[in-house]
Amino acid sequence: MGQAIQVYDSCDSTNLRAKEWAAQGAPNGALVLAETQTAGRGRLGRGWNSAKGQGLFMSVVLRPPFEAQRAPILTMLSAAAVSAALEEVCKVQAPIKWPNDVIVNGKKVCGILAEMSADMDNVQWVVMGIGINVAQGIEDFPEEIRDKATSLLIETGRSFQRCALAGAVMRQLEQRYDQLMTAGVGAVVDYCRRHSATLGQEVLLVTREGKYKARAVDLAEDGELIVENEQGQREKVVSGEVSVRGI
Ligand code: BTN
Repeated sequence: MGQAIQVYDSCDSTNLRAKEWAAQGAPNGALVLAETQTAGRGRLGRGWNSAKGQGLFMSVVLRPPFEAQRAPILTMLSAAAVSAALEEVCKVQAPIKWPNDVIVNGKKVCGILAEMSADMDNVQWVVMGIGINVAQGIEDFPEEIRDKATSLLIETGRSFQRCALAGAVMRQLEQRYDQLMTAGVGAVVDYCRRHSATLGQEVLLVTREGKYKARAVDLAEDGELIVENEQGQREKVVSGEVSVRGI
Protein backbone atom coordinates (compact mmCIF):
# COMPACT_ATOMS: atom_id res chain seq x y z
CA MET A 1 0.00 0.00 0.00
CA GLY A 2 1.15 3.54 -0.71
CA GLN A 3 3.76 2.50 -3.26
CA ALA A 4 2.19 4.79 -5.83
CA ILE A 5 1.40 8.23 -4.43
CA GLN A 6 0.00 11.52 -5.72
CA VAL A 7 0.32 14.53 -3.44
CA TYR A 8 -1.55 17.77 -4.10
CA ASP A 9 -1.12 21.12 -2.44
CA SER A 10 -4.73 21.72 -3.39
CA CYS A 11 -7.21 19.66 -5.37
CA ASP A 12 -10.99 19.47 -5.72
CA SER A 13 -11.35 16.18 -3.81
CA THR A 14 -8.84 13.39 -3.23
CA ASN A 15 -11.67 10.94 -3.93
CA LEU A 16 -12.27 12.50 -7.36
CA ARG A 17 -8.51 12.40 -8.13
CA ALA A 18 -8.25 8.78 -6.94
CA LYS A 19 -11.30 7.71 -8.96
CA GLU A 20 -9.84 9.25 -12.10
CA TRP A 21 -6.50 7.56 -11.40
CA ALA A 22 -8.22 4.23 -10.69
CA ALA A 23 -10.06 4.43 -14.01
CA GLN A 24 -6.65 4.92 -15.66
CA GLY A 25 -5.20 1.84 -13.93
CA ALA A 26 -3.87 2.97 -10.52
CA PRO A 27 -2.55 -0.08 -8.64
CA ASN A 28 -4.00 -1.57 -5.47
CA GLY A 29 -2.97 0.65 -2.56
CA ALA A 30 -2.41 3.80 -4.65
CA LEU A 31 -2.67 6.83 -2.37
CA VAL A 32 -3.80 10.40 -3.03
CA LEU A 33 -3.08 13.08 -0.42
CA ALA A 34 -3.95 16.76 -0.39
CA GLU A 35 -3.11 19.67 1.90
CA THR A 36 -6.50 21.18 1.17
CA GLN A 37 -9.56 20.32 -0.92
CA THR A 38 -11.71 22.89 -2.69
CA ALA A 39 -14.66 20.49 -3.04
CA GLY A 40 -14.19 17.98 -0.19
CA ARG A 41 -17.06 15.51 -0.24
CA GLY A 42 -18.85 13.75 2.58
CA ARG A 43 -21.50 11.03 2.57
CA LEU A 44 -25.08 11.64 1.50
CA GLY A 45 -24.06 14.50 -0.80
CA ARG A 46 -22.67 16.59 2.04
CA GLY A 47 -19.44 18.59 1.90
CA TRP A 48 -16.36 18.00 4.05
CA ASN A 49 -14.56 20.82 5.84
CA SER A 50 -11.11 20.78 4.18
CA ALA A 51 -9.18 23.82 5.35
CA LYS A 52 -5.42 23.83 4.79
CA GLY A 53 -3.37 22.47 7.65
CA GLN A 54 -6.36 21.36 9.71
CA GLY A 55 -7.11 17.88 8.48
CA LEU A 56 -5.69 14.77 6.90
CA PHE A 57 -7.33 14.23 3.51
CA MET A 58 -6.46 10.93 1.88
CA SER A 59 -7.96 8.47 -0.60
CA VAL A 60 -6.75 4.94 -1.23
CA VAL A 61 -7.51 2.80 -4.29
CA LEU A 62 -8.30 -0.83 -3.44
CA ARG A 63 -8.75 -3.61 -5.97
CA PRO A 64 -10.14 -6.57 -4.02
CA PRO A 65 -10.77 -9.67 -6.09
CA PHE A 66 -14.34 -10.08 -4.94
CA GLU A 67 -17.99 -9.38 -5.70
CA ALA A 68 -19.45 -5.90 -5.33
CA GLN A 69 -21.86 -7.04 -2.62
CA ARG A 70 -18.89 -7.79 -0.35
CA ALA A 71 -17.46 -4.27 -0.70
CA PRO A 72 -19.04 -2.84 2.52
CA ILE A 73 -16.51 -4.81 4.57
CA LEU A 74 -13.81 -2.50 3.13
CA THR A 75 -15.46 0.49 4.79
CA MET A 76 -15.35 -1.30 8.14
CA LEU A 77 -11.77 -2.36 7.45
CA SER A 78 -10.79 1.26 6.83
CA ALA A 79 -12.60 2.43 9.97
CA ALA A 80 -10.73 -0.25 11.94
CA ALA A 81 -7.43 0.89 10.41
CA VAL A 82 -8.08 4.53 11.39
CA SER A 83 -9.26 3.54 14.87
CA ALA A 84 -6.12 1.46 15.48
CA ALA A 85 -3.86 4.17 14.02
CA LEU A 86 -5.36 6.83 16.32
CA GLU A 87 -4.99 4.57 19.33
CA GLU A 88 -1.36 3.91 18.37
CA VAL A 89 -0.26 7.46 17.48
CA CYS A 90 -2.51 9.62 19.67
CA LYS A 91 -3.03 7.21 22.58
CA VAL A 92 -6.79 7.83 22.56
CA GLN A 93 -9.68 5.41 22.52
CA ALA A 94 -11.23 5.69 19.08
CA PRO A 95 -14.36 3.53 18.77
CA ILE A 96 -16.23 3.05 15.50
CA LYS A 97 -19.73 4.27 14.88
CA TRP A 98 -20.94 1.55 12.52
CA PRO A 99 -20.07 1.38 9.75
CA ASN A 100 -17.72 4.23 8.99
CA ASP A 101 -17.21 7.03 11.50
CA VAL A 102 -14.44 7.08 14.08
CA ILE A 103 -15.30 8.71 17.38
CA VAL A 104 -13.23 10.24 20.17
CA ASN A 105 -14.92 11.18 23.45
CA GLY A 106 -18.35 10.79 21.88
CA LYS A 107 -17.72 13.05 18.87
CA LYS A 108 -16.76 12.34 15.27
CA VAL A 109 -13.10 12.79 14.44
CA CYS A 110 -12.99 10.89 11.15
CA GLY A 111 -15.36 10.20 8.28
CA ILE A 112 -14.99 7.71 5.46
CA LEU A 113 -16.47 7.94 1.98
CA ALA A 114 -16.29 4.75 -0.11
CA GLU A 115 -16.91 4.93 -3.84
CA MET A 116 -16.89 1.88 -6.10
CA SER A 117 -16.83 0.85 -9.72
CA ALA A 118 -18.04 -2.66 -10.54
CA ASP A 119 -18.14 -4.72 -13.71
CA MET A 120 -20.52 -7.70 -14.01
CA ASP A 121 -21.01 -7.58 -10.21
CA ASN A 122 -17.26 -7.79 -9.58
CA VAL A 123 -15.37 -4.94 -7.96
CA GLN A 124 -13.09 -3.12 -10.39
CA TRP A 125 -11.89 -0.67 -7.78
CA VAL A 126 -13.00 0.95 -4.57
CA VAL A 127 -11.78 4.36 -3.48
CA MET A 128 -11.69 4.76 0.28
CA GLY A 129 -11.71 8.46 1.14
CA ILE A 130 -10.60 9.18 4.69
CA GLY A 131 -10.87 12.57 6.37
CA ILE A 132 -9.40 13.00 9.86
CA ASN A 133 -9.91 16.21 11.84
CA VAL A 134 -6.46 16.92 13.21
CA ALA A 135 -5.91 20.55 14.17
CA GLN A 136 -9.25 22.38 14.16
CA GLY A 137 -10.34 24.47 17.10
CA ILE A 138 -14.03 24.21 18.01
CA GLU A 139 -14.74 27.55 16.29
CA ASP A 140 -13.47 26.09 13.00
CA PHE A 141 -16.54 23.83 12.80
CA PRO A 142 -19.88 25.28 11.68
CA GLU A 143 -22.08 25.94 14.68
CA GLU A 144 -24.65 23.31 13.74
CA ILE A 145 -22.12 20.45 14.01
CA ARG A 146 -20.13 21.61 17.06
CA ASP A 147 -21.92 19.17 19.35
CA LYS A 148 -21.07 16.24 17.02
CA ALA A 149 -17.66 17.00 15.48
CA THR A 150 -14.26 17.26 17.05
CA SER A 151 -10.55 17.18 16.26
CA LEU A 152 -7.54 15.43 17.73
CA LEU A 153 -6.26 18.82 18.94
CA ILE A 154 -9.49 19.56 20.81
CA GLU A 155 -9.63 16.13 22.44
CA THR A 156 -5.97 15.74 23.40
CA GLY A 157 -4.59 19.29 23.49
CA ARG A 158 -1.78 18.02 21.28
CA SER A 159 -0.70 18.66 17.69
CA PHE A 160 -0.05 15.62 15.53
CA GLN A 161 1.95 15.45 12.32
CA ARG A 162 -0.42 14.56 9.53
CA CYS A 163 2.26 12.55 7.72
CA ALA A 164 2.80 10.40 10.84
CA LEU A 165 -0.94 9.76 11.00
CA ALA A 166 -1.11 8.96 7.27
CA GLY A 167 1.77 6.48 7.65
CA ALA A 168 0.10 4.75 10.58
CA VAL A 169 -3.23 4.53 8.73
CA MET A 170 -1.52 3.05 5.65
CA ARG A 171 0.37 0.45 7.71
CA GLN A 172 -2.85 -0.54 9.48
CA LEU A 173 -4.73 -0.69 6.18
CA GLU A 174 -2.08 -2.88 4.58
CA GLN A 175 -1.93 -5.31 7.46
CA ARG A 176 -5.73 -5.60 7.75
CA TYR A 177 -6.25 -5.82 3.98
CA ASP A 178 -3.68 -8.65 3.70
CA GLN A 179 -5.40 -10.44 6.57
CA LEU A 180 -8.80 -9.99 4.88
CA MET A 181 -7.43 -11.55 1.68
CA THR A 182 -5.81 -14.51 3.40
CA ALA A 183 -8.12 -15.23 6.33
CA GLY A 184 -11.47 -13.59 5.55
CA VAL A 185 -13.61 -11.05 7.37
CA GLY A 186 -13.34 -12.45 10.93
CA ALA A 187 -10.60 -10.15 12.23
CA VAL A 188 -12.22 -6.98 10.82
CA VAL A 189 -15.63 -7.80 12.28
CA ASP A 190 -14.05 -8.79 15.57
CA TYR A 191 -12.10 -5.49 15.79
CA CYS A 192 -15.25 -3.48 15.00
CA ARG A 193 -17.24 -5.44 17.59
CA ARG A 194 -14.63 -4.81 20.30
CA HIS A 195 -14.27 -1.12 19.39
CA SER A 196 -17.88 -0.22 18.77
CA ALA A 197 -19.55 3.06 19.67
CA THR A 198 -22.85 1.69 18.33
CA LEU A 199 -23.51 -1.67 19.97
CA GLY A 200 -25.81 -1.46 22.97
CA GLN A 201 -27.10 1.95 21.83
CA GLU A 202 -30.57 3.04 20.76
CA VAL A 203 -30.31 4.04 17.12
CA LEU A 204 -32.50 5.70 14.53
CA LEU A 205 -32.36 3.88 11.22
CA VAL A 206 -33.10 6.05 8.23
CA THR A 207 -34.04 4.02 5.16
CA ARG A 208 -35.68 4.92 1.86
CA GLU A 209 -38.94 3.64 3.31
CA GLY A 210 -38.76 5.79 6.44
CA LYS A 211 -37.24 6.06 9.91
CA TYR A 212 -37.49 3.66 12.80
CA LYS A 213 -35.99 3.22 16.25
CA ALA A 214 -34.11 0.10 17.28
CA ARG A 215 -31.37 -1.13 19.60
CA ALA A 216 -28.05 -2.13 18.04
CA VAL A 217 -27.24 -5.53 19.53
CA ASP A 218 -24.41 -7.16 17.56
CA LEU A 219 -22.47 -7.40 14.33
CA ALA A 220 -23.17 -10.44 12.16
CA GLU A 221 -20.34 -12.67 10.91
CA ASP A 222 -20.15 -10.66 7.70
CA GLY A 223 -20.23 -7.24 9.36
CA GLU A 224 -23.92 -6.39 9.02
CA LEU A 225 -25.46 -4.63 12.02
CA ILE A 226 -27.99 -6.68 13.97
CA VAL A 227 -30.73 -4.55 15.51
CA GLU A 228 -33.71 -5.34 17.67
CA ASN A 229 -36.80 -3.30 16.87
CA GLU A 230 -39.39 -2.08 19.36
CA GLN A 231 -41.37 -5.32 18.91
CA GLY A 232 -38.31 -7.34 19.98
CA GLN A 233 -37.66 -8.71 16.50
CA ARG A 234 -34.09 -8.92 15.28
CA GLU A 235 -32.96 -8.01 11.79
CA LYS A 236 -29.77 -7.35 9.88
CA VAL A 237 -28.95 -3.94 8.49
CA VAL A 238 -26.66 -3.63 5.49
CA SER A 239 -24.36 -0.60 5.43
CA GLY A 240 -25.03 1.69 2.50
CA GLU A 241 -28.75 1.03 2.68
CA VAL A 242 -29.38 2.94 5.87
CA SER A 243 -28.10 5.87 7.83
CA VAL A 244 -27.67 5.14 11.55
CA ARG A 245 -28.04 7.98 14.03
CA GLY A 246 -27.79 8.07 17.78
CA ILE A 247 -30.97 8.93 19.65
C1 BTN B 1 -18.41 11.52 5.85
O1 BTN B 1 -19.38 12.15 5.39
O2 BTN B 1 -18.35 11.23 7.04
C2 BTN B 1 -17.29 11.11 4.93
C3 BTN B 1 -16.24 12.17 4.81
C4 BTN B 1 -15.07 11.78 3.93
C5 BTN B 1 -14.09 12.90 3.75
C6 BTN B 1 -12.84 12.48 3.01
S1 BTN B 1 -11.58 13.71 3.02
C7 BTN B 1 -10.67 12.79 1.86
C8 BTN B 1 -11.66 12.24 0.86
N1 BTN B 1 -11.91 13.21 -0.18
C9 BTN B 1 -13.17 13.66 -0.15
O3 BTN B 1 -13.65 14.51 -0.92
N2 BTN B 1 -13.86 13.05 0.83
C10 BTN B 1 -13.03 12.11 1.55
